Amino acid sequence: MQISENISLKKYNTFGIDVNAKRFIAVTSFYELQEVLKTEKDVFLLSGGSNMLLTKDIDQLVIHINIKGISIDSEDENHVYLTVNAGEDWHEFVIWCISQDYGGIENLSLIPGNVGTCPIQNIGAYGVEVKDVITKVQALEIDTSKKLEFSNSACQFGYRNSIFKNELKGKVVLTSVSFKLTKNAHQLNTSYGAIETELQDQNITVPTLEDVSNAVIKIRQSKLPDPKQIGNSGSFFKNPVISSEHFNKLQKKYSKIPSYKVSDDEIKVPAGWLIETAGFKGKRFGDFGVHEKQALVLVNYGNASGKDIFELAQKIQEVILKTFDITLEIEVNVIP
Ligand code: EPU
Repeated sequence: MQISENISLKKYNTFGIDVNAKRFIAVTSFYELQEVLKTEKDVFLLSGGSNMLLTKDIDQLVIHINIKGISIDSEDENHVYLTVNAGEDWHEFVIWCISQDYGGIENLSLIPGNVGTCPIQNIGAYGVEVKDVITKVQALEIDTSKKLEFSNSACQFGYRNSIFKNELKGKVVLTSVSFKLTKNAHQLNTSYGAIETELQDQNITVPTLEDVSNAVIKIRQSKLPDPKQIGNSGSFFKNPVISSEHFNKLQKKYSKIPSYKVSDDEIKVPAGWLIETAGFKGKRFGDFGVHEKQALVLVNYGNASGKDIFELAQKIQEVILKTFDITLEIEVNVIP
């Protein structure tokens, strides 16, 4: 185990922000991680780096979680129970599951990041959230190097939210995640408009897991930038929830405003629509901007700094508040 000095983190974050880690170590096993945490407490954890915006050099020891491995814990007639180590790439895991005919996460194809971070923001897309298939999450407590286990309910999952983003932020390292997936009688979730249309276009009436995954991949590729080509962190903001009263007022002025009912008196509106309507979609400012096909995604075209992108986000928040009286909440973890 060797600590390196002055390492660029550009290739370790999907935004492609070039900041340095004063000290950096990659751990490839649970025990290595435990050893490091015995002596180092002021640490900065980095897994897939797919949901963070780095704004300056990191003074703490950066620990890159690169623990690989998938194990099947048990199986019954209808389900398989798996535990997957934190450093496995999420999309590769999804594709592997499809090749084994394990169902439940096909709608979550092509989401950047690693398995170990998927519970933190409860990744979700096209009508499925990862909380639907997680049985438990294993972690190490930073202060004590003790092993912890969280049941699904202990994770306190919410929309792009969990206990790991709140009271346990900075206190634990997620080391593996356990899933319950279907082996047969898969419950495909194709009701999301774009998936249905994509399958119809291909004349697929009885879709397989692979068909659904391919449809999702096609949809995502058509509007979301590939972080390998254009730095980004997916949706930069959460979709805000507003009161029905507030929504009715907006609808009078903007008759086409899309909406999803959350409860009798609450409505979710797509932040992408608000940002597009405010005129930001496709706007480029030097090396950074708002993606041309999905206004919810802020992008780094090359050498933007985290500060540039954060300032743009703040500008967008300001304009959205002024125009729609809505406070947009940032979804990405901004490292100040
Ligand atoms: N829209 C616009 N302009 C835009 C983008 C969207 O008008 O630039 C409108 C669309 O026309 C549609 C509505 O907004 O009426 C919703 O758009 P979309 O279906 O693309 O979904 P989203 O609300 O923008 C959410 C997630 C995505 C996820 C998709 C699909 C959040 C913050 N984002 O986006 O998640 O892939 O639904 O389920 O909930 C991510 O979290 O990184 C992410 C990409």
